Amino acid sequence: MKDAFAGESQANRRYLAFAQKAEKDGLVQAAKLFRAAAEAETIHALNHLGIIGEIKSTTDNLDAAVSGETFEFKKMYPKYLRLAKQEGNHQAAWSFDVANKVEQVHANLFSKAVEALRNDRELAKIDYYICSVCGNTVEGTAPEKCPICGAPKTKFFKVA
Ligand SMILES: [Fe+2]
Ligand SMILES: [Fe+2]
Repeated sequence: MKDAFAGESQANRRYLAFAQKAEKDGLVQAAKLFRAAAEAETIHALNHLGIIGEIKSTTDNLDAAVSGETFEFKKMYPKYLRLAKQEGNHQAAWSFDVANKVEQVHANLFSKAVEALRNDRELAKIDYYICSVCGNTVEGTAPEKCPICGAPKTKFFKVA
């Protein structure tokens, strides 16, 4: 079931990427078909995840998120980054490096949230801005320049 969850999750993102490409090429109906299938793959992925039993209380889910992000920035990405550099693959090294830095940001944001919930505090009502280049996740307002990848403010979008 975990493999099926992974596969459906990947199919969802792959189809969304394919939809963007089709959109860019003016193939509107192909883009729509990719988006339709992507929605369906999400439903499959969520069905699988629910049956595996990985969706728990929000406090537990936040703990799981902290663990996952921490594993990524402490173990997974440092190893991948080393390999990419060894192989001289600069694009991969860039992608791993920015993801690594953003996972650290996520671990902090999730930690703050879980601490608030544990202490029966409401989470502060705050906006999140995402850098469309590197995924940096910023509280409050978009910075003039992304501190992780250097992209300008205009590359940030607000999370609904
Ligand atoms: Fe993350
Ligand atoms: Fe960025």
